[in-house]
Amino acid sequence: MSTRHLIERLEQSGVLSKEEFVELISTSADEDKEYAKQRARDIGDAYFGKKIYVRGLIEFTNYCKNDCLYCGIRRSNGNAERYRLTEEEILSCCEEGEQLGFRTFVLQGGEDAYYTDERMVELIHKIKERHPDCALTLSIGERERESYEKFFRAGADRYLLRHETASDSHYRQLHPSEMSLAHRKNCLRQLKEIGFQTGCGFMVGSPGQTAETLAEDFLFIHELQPEMVGIGPFIPHQDTQFANEAQGALEQTLFLLSLLRIMQKDLLLPATTALATIHPTGREQGILAGANVLMPNLSPVNVRDKYSLYDGKVCTGDEAAECRNCLQRRVEGIGYEIVVERGDHPSRH
Ligand code: 5AD
Ligand code: FES
Repeated sequence: MSTRHLIERLEQSGVLSKEEFVELISTSADEDKEYAKQRARDIGDAYFGKKIYVRGLIEFTNYCKNDCLYCGIRRSNGNAERYRLTEEEILSCCEEGEQLGFRTFVLQGGEDAYYTDERMVELIHKIKERHPDCALTLSIGERERESYEKFFRAGADRYLLRHETASDSHYRQLHPSEMSLAHRKNCLRQLKEIGFQTGCGFMVGSPGQTAETLAEDFLFIHELQPEMVGIGPFIPHQDTQFANEAQGALEQTLFLLSLLRIMQKDLLLPATTALATIHPTGREQGILAGANVLMPNLSPVNVRDKYSLYDGKVCTGDEAAECRNCLQRRVEGIGYEIVVERGDHPSRH
């Protein structure tokens, strides 16, 4: 049977039951997915027009104290060549980024003890002082509430922390026992309470993922009401025990992007680099399935290949300016435009 009625109801009521999500995710035929894509794109256009927001991603450290089983920069990967950008290098990425038309910078890194709260606060102050018209997003993992509060007071605007999966048992398949889903969810709730525009998210096709775990992801997202959701295909990394697992599928990622757009209409939804990595036009297809954000790399070229979360990542050899032009061409090629704006969530306008 067609799942079209479920897609229609998701659009009308903004949520489904767990059983309905399972049915939608596991039984939808190609024509249902096509219908979801059309609805997602129409909704995206209604809320954001033809605008695509861009964020300059600065991968400032690949030291990480965690040991997530899927991730190439996990602490037990002795083959990872570790690096840490200096404050000066980070500031010069921002400088170049602003000239290229970025009005959001995303500082992303492993959970690196060198970057203490004090060092982060100083960095945030400096970036916001030099770029008062730009938004600053942090993506540096789990910290104490007090730390998040300090970052917010220092001027950080947004925070990305993918929950990775909302199923307890699946979470334990992806992470060592010292990490917990409860703690991660708690961090996300605190970030929202503090006032960050908050992003959660998950990988598509990670080992152990099922329609049930995805249904739990959708219910968690509905409950959290984040401003952003980042999803991209799982891609195996050679130095992890998931090296021989299958990567996430393009069509499934596109379908889930569409369902997210239909469920939470004003969401900031990136077409991720991982999506571009599994298909040459992955980002364009992501936009056509409902995404409205791109997050190209602003990191210095000499460290890009070292921030290796998964194998085969695209754009590691390209200068920021090249990526900027390349993305512009790609986005214009499908009838959209990259805008020079902060691109805050509509609720903050
Ligand atoms: N494949 C795809 N995405 C990955 N991430 C980490 N490792 C991989 C991988 N092997 C994602 C996680 C993390 C984000 C920064 O990158 O979801 O939250
Ligand atoms: Fe990086 Fe195309 S976006 S080269």
